[in-house]
Amino acid sequence: MKVLVIGGGAREHALCRSLSLDPDVSALYCAPGNAGIAEVAELRPVDALDGAAVAALATELGADLVVVGPEAPLVAGVGDAVRAVGIPVFGPSAEAAQLEGSKAFAKDVMAAAGVPTARSYVCTTAEEVDEALDAFGAPYVVKDDGLAAGKGVVVTEDRAAARAHALACDRVVIEEYLDGPEVSLFAITDGVTVLPLQPAQDFKRALDGDEGPNTGGMGAYSPLPWADPKLVDEVMALVLQPTVDELRRRGTPFSGLLYAGLAITSRGTRVIEFNARFGDPETQVVLARLRTPLASVLLNAARGTLDAEPPLSWRDDAAVTVVIASHNYPETPRTGDPIEGLAEVAALDAPDAYVLHAGTRREGDAVVSAGGRVLSVTATGSDLAQAREKAYKAVSRIRLDGSQHRTDIAAKAAEGR
Ligand code: AMP
Ligand code: GLY
Repeated sequence: MKVLVIGGGAREHALCRSLSLDPDVSALYCAPGNAGIAEVAELRPVDALDGAAVAALATELGADLVVVGPEAPLVAGVGDAVRAVGIPVFGPSAEAAQLEGSKAFAKDVMAAAGVPTARSYVCTTAEEVDEALDAFGAPYVVKDDGLAAGKGVVVTEDRAAARAHALACDRVVIEEYLDGPEVSLFAITDGVTVLPLQPAQDFKRALDGDEGPNTGGMGAYSPLPWADPKLVDEVMALVLQPTVDELRRRGTPFSGLLYAGLAITSRGTRVIEFNARFGDPETQVVLARLRTPLASVLLNAARGTLDAEPPLSWRDDAAVTVVIASHNYPETPRTGDPIEGLAEVAALDAPDAYVLHAGTRREGDAVVSAGGRVLSVTATGSDLAQAREKAYKAVSRIRLDGSQHRTDIAAKAAEGR
């Protein structure tokens, strides 16, 4: 099978790594990719947002499957453009990707499907914003309606800051604050059959102790030893299957990866958000634990034949990933700094610890930073404590001037807290 992956972050590196280990995959391409992905896939330049260009590339390569990684091309209809030339795509249509592209649309689908989520108001005027803020009180949760790369959400005790963020957005969702730990649960679906993956936890705040601004995600781990063993079944029945059924009922079936961001509150499990693609950095730890070869699962989802797939098989290992970000992330990051120590990590603990590249590019013989999140250092071990130790040992070998990372990824869970 010839597979083309669209995107160039650590999530796409994790996808390409898994696909490169799958004996069914005879050729693997990634467009545009990054310096790390180049080691497992052949890179092709492409504007990932240009559906006609991606479709032409897939045709030229004779791809049997196109996997679209990030949300922006999905929302822009790149999957539709590729399907229109007869090539199966893992990833939803533009219409179904509105589940991520519009928070208001997601709320509407959840209401129709009876999926538990935070109560919310959609606001477009200052009066509506003030009413909604007062209705819920602090802490305030204010979400830009559109795509914002994980940075459109402000959660704050400060009413003035909440109001300022709301007024800076064209359309905003203001909602009830959900207390409790967060879980990310992914499911692969063809629009009818839903196959859940293993849950993971992401660390969204920039600094240790969940301080600082929201980011795209600073680290993740899986499994979750503290979670109820029935969590996956519960979320399948309450959230994932009803959402997939509702989108099919509307005539806009969702195929691809349905990402449920959940809060485990004292009053039960609630959806915080949906995404229409694999999460980053959770994918790095979930795929590290997946034993089932990935390509045929993705192809069956793309073709509408997921019912032919047996249940997924998982390693007992635990996995931890730690994101190394550029100086000044999540504000405008500094880029172009050389990254050293990659070869040391490769020599250190392979295959249990490895570096997945996010924002990197090659400059002559050097690999340099090229984005906010630069590397996602991933390790597996017999338990979280061991996976954590291996991941941080690898992180300590990486040298990137001005870079930052959290030191507490999976720490509480590893200590049984
Ligand atoms: P989102 O982009 O919707 O996932 O929001 C980013 C982050 O903001 C989430 O991972 C949560 O940490 C936080 N957040 C979002 N909605 C809520 C809510 N209703 N209550 C508490 N925290 C929230
Ligand atoms: N890790 C959060 C996201 O992928 O949106």
